[in-house]
Amino acid sequence: MSANSASPSSRLMSGNRCSLPVAVFIVLVCLFLLQLYSLLPQKDAFKLDPQIHTSRRFRELDEVDEENIQMPPPRKRSPRAIKRKPKRPTTIIDEFLDESSQIRHLFFPDMKTAIDPNKGNGSFYYNPGRIWLDTEGNPIQAHGGGILYDERDKTYYWYGEYKDGPTYHAHKKGAARVDIIGVGCYSSKDLWTWKNEGIVLAAEENDETHDLHKSNVLERPKVLYNENTGKYVMWMHIDDTNYTKAHVGVAVSDYPNGPFHYLYGKNPHGFDSRDMTVFRDDDGSAYLIYSSVDNSELHVSPLTKDYLDVTNVVSPILIGHRREAPAMFKHQGTYYMITSGCTGWAPNEAMAHASESVMGPWETMGNPCLGGNEIFRETTFFSQSTFVLPVKGLTEYFIFMADRWNPADLRDSRYVWLPLKVAGPADQPLDYEFGFPLWPRVSIFWHKRWKLPFRWSE
Ligand code: DGJ
Repeated sequence: MSANSASPSSRLMSGNRCSLPVAVFIVLVCLFLLQLYSLLPQKDAFKLDPQIHTSRRFRELDEVDEENIQMPPPRKRSPRAIKRKPKRPTTIIDEFLDESSQIRHLFFPDMKTAIDPNKGNGSFYYNPGRIWLDTEGNPIQAHGGGILYDERDKTYYWYGEYKDGPTYHAHKKGAARVDIIGVGCYSSKDLWTWKNEGIVLAAEENDETHDLHKSNVLERPKVLYNENTGKYVMWMHIDDTNYTKAHVGVAVSDYPNGPFHYLYGKNPHGFDSRDMTVFRDDDGSAYLIYSSVDNSELHVSPLTKDYLDVTNVVSPILIGHRREAPAMFKHQGTYYMITSGCTGWAPNEAMAHASESVMGPWETMGNPCLGGNEIFRETTFFSQSTFVLPVKGLTEYFIFMADRWNPADLRDSRYVWLPLKVAGPADQPLDYEFGFPLWPRVSIFWHKRWKLPFRWSE
């Protein structure tokens, strides 16, 4: 067979032989181009992978500060004082609670270091423990508080105990107290600059039988907006001087900045109710969570549709754990709660809890506090939980709000706001009562100074 008469298949073979290097070259070029494309900045990176984007943007929030507080040298005591009360070793908590401690300024820095929105410097930085001034230059009075984001006017409202009076003990063994003044309310668009909206629920001056009589106790007010009725509903802890009444109180208003009208107080489900909070779920259902049975357990109860009462359904949770100061929040379908132990105004160790349902059962995961030093972590950074605020625009971060109580002068109690994150490796639960899945870790990061990332609300 002559060369010209070569079969089609052999022509193809010879063609293949020639084009192989070309084909390899084309494949290499394609791979190179692909590689180049992947290195180009992606315009839609946020949309493609919000998690990666978020973690880069918010990394600073996880970088905790360390603390190294030295105990002051022991103070000289007279031989008579030593005989009367032999000295036990002093702890940092004793120093924290002692008004005359040489290191008191570390926990309660004075007015010179106040956060002042009228002064440009330090804008948007949270400084846990420092005095925080409102837009008129007065210390914010919103202790044991909570925040409502009002969708209607795109404003945050911070409600809390207005404690601007002298601290005293009604009885020798009674807890330190101030007379009720009322519930203070502050508004803000940026969560840093707070305008005083005034006392939105005021104490009763004259009627001694009224729940809000100034000689009683009004603590931990929280407000929810009810979409069915268009009303703002406030829940609070109402008590007598000795904390024996143990009621919840309910007030209502047409506006977020009041005035609120007090409706009634009662023992929910016939139980004692001391520290409490309310929680609104995504579907509009809301719950009351309260410390009960002498603080030995918490109770959870769904509220009625108008949020003005509890339903007759109640679930005891964390039985025997002795927790108070509950602050509930939700992340990716799981419910979380931070609580404190029960030591009056003195700080103690926080615990994080998780559940698949608000009604429980709940599991305790352990201490969420990171950074500072051991004593900072064991005292919730010398503070007590009051609220966990979901922040618009942030996915895995929340603001943990706590009170640094000053039992010697309660009106001078401070705010400790810190970033809280639900993410990362599964936590090791402290109790396995129900054989639950492992939850992602809840972390509260200690910072001497921190701020929300630039344009966080977008
Ligand atoms: C601890 C509570 O959490 C506070 O709200 C307050 O009731 C104090 N006890 C009173 O000692």
